[in-house]
Amino acid sequence: MNIDLLSHRHLARCMAIDEAAPFPWGKTHWSRSLRDDHCLGLWRGADLVAISAFTLVFDELSLMNLVVASGEGGRGYGRALLLGGLEWMQQLGPSRCILEVRESNVVARGLYRSVGFGEDGIRKNYYPLGAGREDAVLMSAPLPLDEWK
Ligand SMILES: CC(C)(COP(=O)(O)OP(=O)(O)OC[C@H]1O[C@@H](n2cnc3c(N)ncnc32)[C@H](O)[C@@H]1OP(=O)(O)O)[C@@H](O)C(=O)NCCC(=O)NCCS
Repeated sequence: MNIDLLSHRHLARCMAIDEAAPFPWGKTHWSRSLRDDHCLGLWRGADLVAISAFTLVFDELSLMNLVVASGEGGRGYGRALLLGGLEWMQQLGPSRCILEVRESNVVARGLYRSVGFGEDGIRKNYYPLGAGREDAVLMSAPLPLDEWK
């Protein structure tokens, strides 16, 4: 397994992973993110199995997205890319990482909690959900993570 930066030439592969996600970002969003953000992918040989997007503003990192390919969930790839991505980004000197996650996304919330993220609050009705809206849970972790100190 290895983690590497993604660029615009990986857009089609990113779209193939994104399209199977429950709430896909879509081509416009990934295209912009691959151009402007720090996008990292987890490779198993020639296969891209998970993708992520981080932004950095001063010393605050934001995890904007993390998606594991369809059929590859529950094998540790999400955790591997989250930890490897945070470690990769550590060279740029962030002191914390923040993120927002759908309240109903118990898998992602469990993953984030398991590596040291705490829940800081709720953003009411933040995400569209069918005909209604869904709350966002705001989470953060100090960097570097405890396990690297
Ligand atoms: C969230 C996501 C990235 C997790 O990736 P994954 O590779 O399936 O997760 P991992 O196998 O690395 O598991 C890591 C942790 O997630 C949690 N988890 C994984 N599968 C779970 C399940 N079915 N139920 C509850 N928690 C689960 C556990 O805490 C697990 O840790 P453990 O194995 O020590 O118990 C993946 O499910 C995904 O791509 N979801 C769709 C996109 C998305 O919602 N991204 C988050 C945007 S904020």
